Amino acid sequence: MVGGMRKPYYDHAGITIYHGDALTILKEMEAESINCVITSPPYWGLRDYGIDGQLGLEATPELYVSKMLKVFQEIRRVLKTDGTVWLNLGDSYFGSGQGWSKNKIHAEGKQASNRGSVKRTWLAGYGYSKPPGYISSKQPKGLKPKDLVGIPWRVAFALQTDGWWLRSDIIWAKPNPMPESVADRPTKTHEYIFLLTKSKKYYFDQNSVKTLSRYPEGPNSPDKIKSPYGQGFSRRSDKQTGFNERWDQMSKQEQRSNGANIRTVWNIATMPYLEAHFATFPEKLIEPCILAGCPSGGVVLDPFSGSGTALAVSKRLGRLGIGIELKKDYINLSKKRLSQEVLDLK
Ligand SMILES: C[S@@+](CC[C@H](N)C(=O)[O-])C[C@H]1O[C@@H](n2cnc3c(N)ncnc32)[C@H](O)[C@@H]1O
Repeated sequence: MVGGMRKPYYDHAGITIYHGDALTILKEMEAESINCVITSPPYWGLRDYGIDGQLGLEATPELYVSKMLKVFQEIRRVLKTDGTVWLNLGDSYFGSGQGWSKNKIHAEGKQASNRGSVKRTWLAGYGYSKPPGYISSKQPKGLKPKDLVGIPWRVAFALQTDGWWLRSDIIWAKPNPMPESVADRPTKTHEYIFLLTKSKKYYFDQNSVKTLSRYPEGPNSPDKIKSPYGQGFSRRSDKQTGFNERWDQMSKQEQRSNGANIRTVWNIATMPYLEAHFATFPEKLIEPCILAGCPSGGVVLDPFSGSGTALAVSKRLGRLGIGIELKKDYINLSKKRLSQEVLDLK
C-alpha cells in the first residue's frame, strides 16, 4: 500500500467498493493482494458517463491505449504472481461516413454513443481528457471514416509489449446483438475477452470449467445439448437411455472429469441489468472467468465495477470482491443489487 488506503464507500459481507478514479485507487492498494481481475473498462469513444475523470473519451486510440497501459501497470502491481486478468473490450468504427471533421465514432455493440456538454478535464495521473463531442484537428494515424478501429487488439498488443502474457482471446458471441442498419459489412455480433497473466505459470482451474463432452462414449451423436462455452454434450437417442441415465446420475465433478476443455467462443446473450442505463456484464459471461481464474476464497477485483456484476457473481461463487467505480450512482446501484442477492438467498 502506498501512503494508506482510503475508506471504502461500501464494505459488507466480503465485498468492498471504493469510490473514485481507477488509477488513483489502484495506486493505494497493497501489492500482490489480488487473485483475479475481471473488468470491462469504458470502450474508446462510445459512451459519455457524464462525469469528470472518466476514461474512454480520448481524442485518439493511441491516447486511450496509453491510459489503459497506466491502469494495467498498477493492476500488475496489485495482482498476485499467479494471478489472472480477464479483460472485456469491444470495437468501434471510426467516423460516421459524414467526413473526418465530424470526428464521430459510430457506436457499435453494447455501449451506445451519448455525448454531452463540451468541457476539457484534467485527469490526475493520465493528463488531459478530451471532452465529449471533442473535435480533433489531427486525424488519428491511418484511420479513415468507416474503418474498424481494432481497439481491443491495439490494447492487447500494447499490454503484451509491456510485459503481460497474452494467453487467450475469447470471442463473446451474442445471439441477441444490437440491430445495425448497415449494408456494406456484416452485422457485428461479438466482443473480446482477453486472458492476460503476470507470469508464465498461473492459477487456472481447468476442471471447474470443463464443458460437457460431445462424445463421451464415441462419436455416435444424436440430439445435442449445447454448452454456451463451446462443446455440446450429445445425449444418446432413446434407444440408448442407459447412457443418459448414467450421465444424469454422475456428480457435476464426474461429468466434468469426463468433459472437454472450455473453448474460445462463448455464446452468451446480453442481459441488461434493468436499473443500469449502460452495458453490464451478463453473469454467465464472468462465471467461468471466476471459476477458472480465482481460487475459492480468493479476491476478485473489478476496477471499473459499474453496477457490480463481477462483485455479485464473486460473492455467489464464494470469492471476495473489490470494486472501484467513479460514479456514485452506480455504486449505489451495486449496493442495492448486493443486498438484493442476500435477500434472494433467504
Ligand atoms: C462498461 S462500464 C462497466 C460495467 C460493469 N462491467 C457492469 O457489469 O456493470 C464501465 C464503468 O467504468 C466507469 N468509469 C469510467 N471512468 C472511470 C475511471 N476513471 N475510474 C473508475 N471507473 C470509471 C464508468 O462509470 C462505468 O461504470
